[in-house]
Amino acid sequence: MAVPPEFIEDLRQRVPLSDIVGRRVKLVRKGRRFSGLCPFHSEKTPSFSVVDDDGFYHCFGCGAHGDAISFLREMDGLDFMEAVERLADMAGLSMPKSTRIDPAVTRQRKAALDILEEATRFFEAGLRADEGRDAARYLKQRGLDATTVKNFRLGFAPRSGLRTALAGKGFSDDDMILAGVLGKSNSDGRLYDYFRDRVMFPIENRQGKVIAFGARALGDAQPKYLNSGDGPTFSKKAVLYGWVQAREAVRRKLPLVVVEGYMDVIAVQRSGIAAALAPLGTALTPEQITLLWKLHDEPILCFDGDEAGQRAQLRALERILPLLEPGRSARLAMLPAGKDPDDVLGESGPEGLSKILGTAQALADSLWTTTAAQFDTRQPEARAQFWQAVRGRVRSIGNNQVRGAYGDEIENRIAAMRSQTRGQTTSFMARRAIRPATGLMHRHRAILALILAHPALVPANFEALSMLEIADQKLDHVKKAVVDAVIRDPDLDVAALNYHLQERGFGSALEDLTGDEMKSRLPFDPSALTPERAGDHLEELLGLVDGKSGLFSKTRTPRI
Ligand code: UTP
Ligand code: MN
Repeated sequence: MAVPPEFIEDLRQRVPLSDIVGRRVKLVRKGRRFSGLCPFHSEKTPSFSVVDDDGFYHCFGCGAHGDAISFLREMDGLDFMEAVERLADMAGLSMPKSTRIDPAVTRQRKAALDILEEATRFFEAGLRADEGRDAARYLKQRGLDATTVKNFRLGFAPRSGLRTALAGKGFSDDDMILAGVLGKSNSDGRLYDYFRDRVMFPIENRQGKVIAFGARALGDAQPKYLNSGDGPTFSKKAVLYGWVQAREAVRRKLPLVVVEGYMDVIAVQRSGIAAALAPLGTALTPEQITLLWKLHDEPILCFDGDEAGQRAQLRALERILPLLEPGRSARLAMLPAGKDPDDVLGESGPEGLSKILGTAQALADSLWTTTAAQFDTRQPEARAQFWQAVRGRVRSIGNNQVRGAYGDEIENRIAAMRSQTRGQTTSFMARRAIRPATGLMHRHRAILALILAHPALVPANFEALSMLEIADQKLDHVKKAVVDAVIRDPDLDVAALNYHLQERGFGSALEDLTGDEMKSRLPFDPSALTPERAGDHLEELLGLVDGKSGLFSKTRTPRI
């Protein structure tokens, strides 16, 4: 059931966000905002703020961000509809009436399911009949035994006969067309069995009812696989092949692998080393990814080792990231180029495939390596591009907690990569490190004053800022807090940054760095500078360029 957006908007207006959050978090009003300890990460000083007018909360510490519905979903584990119901309850409104279920549609669906079941039996019998001899031989030759054929209800569709058989059971042509087993010629309206001379793979729903077919040509007939079209029982993007068998295997504690084809599902299941599922000839959809997690917290996705497989892996990553939730992930395995799991099993047996599955990469590793593979990371600008890309992908993670954890992980890796690079260029760095100690403290304070007045400069100078070692502990903490906050929320403005730092107990340091005393010591007023000028000064102070003004250079150490 869909809820009209106006209803949700109405709920947002009626129930102040601070009421909802206030039930879980002790909030203190500060002007337009409320502030409190963030419920999404552990902290001692409040970084979490709620603005009723906007209807959003934001944590300056971990980056958690969302509205009433996301708060209820994440805090109370409610799904979308439950969260809406809870809000409606608080607002004293009743839920809008669901659209009535159409009895005609219900009847068609029921008839389609009955037809599909009858057709499955017809095809199963077809495989045992004389005319199914070639098909039976083909399946045997592909290594499938009688138990597997029975288990997956494989069958054979002869050139004709299904329509007559179904009519004999009282089904109408119209219902057969709707169920997808009967086709109607566009030119002359003639009716024909849709699947002819093919090996039949019944596709079952999660209750084990047949809802569609995949049908493989025996010879070189095209297409190789013919699938049922979407209909009253079947939506291709929301179904995975092999569910019932996979569920049983997962119960026996086997890993779950996602493969590409029907034959792969069957071969993997048969090998006994893993449960297997496949989408139906398309890349994994968000619906299918969500379904996978009903069976297993960490399914293994298999990809061909060729270039197309690499691209498919990247696409899968991009689809999974927005859907991640705490404890739910995936692993990515690379097959030898040009081989599918069925080929691997045929060539190197269950051990061979097991070995490959054992090397599957964790999602975070895969995010890092597949993104890195897109750039020539020996070049500094490409390296920066890589970091930008990988951070962008982390930002696509929908769940606040998972995004926070990935953010930490990725920043650590970037830092490690940077220190490695730095190791290779120490002599170059060492040359610019010689600066008079007296000027150093002042230079650091000037840098902080600049980024406090122009937080937007932080991302571009992130590397140099992180590299900057500030001996003064207090100042170093301020720097880290500023860099952290801006990296987590690149749109943070001066006011929000100030607020955030105040909240984290940096009030006196802030006064010190932005007060009149400081201004009088600087050759410029940071807040009066244009962003460009501020950027130039910052780069000079960071030693990234040789300043024309020479304000803080070795030759003209400021007198302090
Ligand atoms: P593949 O061409 O890799 O076939 O298609 P396969 O699964 O290895 O099958 P065998 O081993 O040759 O028998 C992978 C999947 O893509 C879909 C099917 O779901 C197939 O299992 N597909 C492929 C189609 O839907 N239509 C096609 O024409 C081909
Ligand atoms: Mn194959």
